[in-house]
Amino acid sequence: MNSEARIIKLAEVFVKQELEFDSSGHDWWHIDRVRKLALEIAKTEKEADGFISELSALLHDVADEKLNDSKQAGLDKVENWLASNIADKNITNRVMTIIATMSYNGGQNPPMESIEGEIVQDADRLDALGAIGIARTFAYSGAKGTIIHNPEQEFSHFSQMDYRSNGKTAIYHFYEKLLKLKDLMNTPYAKELATKRHDFMEEYLRQFYNEWNLEDNGGL
Ligand code: ADP
Ligand code: NI
Repeated sequence: MNSEARIIKLAEVFVKQELEFDSSGHDWWHIDRVRKLALEIAKTEKEADGFISELSALLHDVADEKLNDSKQAGLDKVENWLASNIADKNITNRVMTIIATMSYNGGQNPPMESIEGEIVQDADRLDALGAIGIARTFAYSGAKGTIIHNPEQEFSHFSQMDYRSNGKTAIYHFYEKLLKLKDLMNTPYAKELATKRHDFMEEYLRQFYNEWNLEDNGGL
């Protein structure tokens, strides 16, 4: 095994152990999907380093604030792991920069500095879309004890942001974040795939409201 393949294997073991008991949508299979997507996108970007993309994808959620005492504590954990397993400081620095800057933050964070960062950010965001994104949203809401939807706190379009934010419903999350992600993709590959997954979510929401309002009975 070459040293890159060895580091990837070690990272898998570390991440599996760190995220073993997570119920906030960051289970191992999320990480595995993001890593595969990142590798796939990297193949379409000729400047991109597949190893940096894959390693950053594997480690990206270990530092998540929700899983650590603070953002800094999470970043320190990843940095310590990198420092003890990789001699090349340049790799550690590149991966740390990606992980420290890739979060959504309401879409307000500055653009990623490297192509690998753009790739991992796209891959993570793509996994929040489509059928899997919908499943993760309801799983997350369930884990937090939030209800599916509350029509009395209705919003028909996300320009109408007067919603009281406590106890945000799962459906609210589509408007708050998921439907905005398509326009935030960095790479052409991700833009195209995001559009498909976005369309599927819109179709899903149409059906959801149709059922909610009993408009799907087709004159039964
Ligand atoms: P990641 O950084 O892996 O994209 P997040 O920590 O932002 O993940 O969220 C994990 C999953 O839970 C994602 O699929 C996200 O869309 C979903 N999620 C995050 N916040 C909420 C929320 N308030 N309500 C419902 N789903 C949420
Ligand atoms: Ni993630």
